[in-house]
Amino acid sequence: MVYIAPSLLAADFSALDREVAKIKRADMLHVDIMDGHFVPNISIGPAVVAALRDKTQLPFDVHLMLENPMNYIEAFRKAGADTITVHVECKEPAQELIAAIRATGAKAGLALSPETPVSAIGDWGSQLSQVTVMTVNPGFGGQTMMIDPLRKIFQLKSQFPGLLVEVDGGVNLQTAPLCKAAGADILVAGTSVFQAEDPYLEIRCLAI
Ligand code: DX5
Ligand code: ZN
Repeated sequence: MVYIAPSLLAADFSALDREVAKIKRADMLHVDIMDGHFVPNISIGPAVVAALRDKTQLPFDVHLMLENPMNYIEAFRKAGADTITVHVECKEPAQELIAAIRATGAKAGLALSPETPVSAIGDWGSQLSQVTVMTVNPGFGGQTMMIDPLRKIFQLKSQFPGLLVEVDGGVNLQTAPLCKAAGADILVAGTSVFQAEDPYLEIRCLAI
């Protein structure tokens, strides 16, 4: 059983309400937030997330690629985030960020960029709902999956049995079986879902 989280980054930004309607059979909506500092790209802010909140029933899985996420946690929670994920490589202490996320009532996630080892999670595993294993360098959709980081899924599942492990970057019909075989619980898929002729069918096929 794997959950599919289409990434809004690959959607048509001129018609987001219509785009989210295409993926209502998914399990959650993955929302990438980029600040132009932690990553070289800029995406959307809390106002856009809030505007989408009543357009879909899907939980919002908000991925903060921000150098300093602390000041934005509350805003994204108010905008409708169900899970808020921060990068362990960002400039603020992960422990404080996780506590701040949990204090809002959201589920907390930690993301690991491709080169970051599982040991970077330290003692915080029990406070997390999910860990995101990045299989591309964060910043852009449509990249090719790096296979090596998938090894981290085995490590995460054995060290933290209750944790959900999400794979983010380059998931498509060719790479999804590798992620599932490695034990992934959530597959983020941007390009493969939103560029598909039939996003509903793509979601179904990714989930098999
Ligand atoms: C990359 C983002 C991903 C991205 C995935 O920085 O975190 O969520 O949207 O896009 P695809 O599925 O196209 O690789
Ligand atoms: Zn993402």
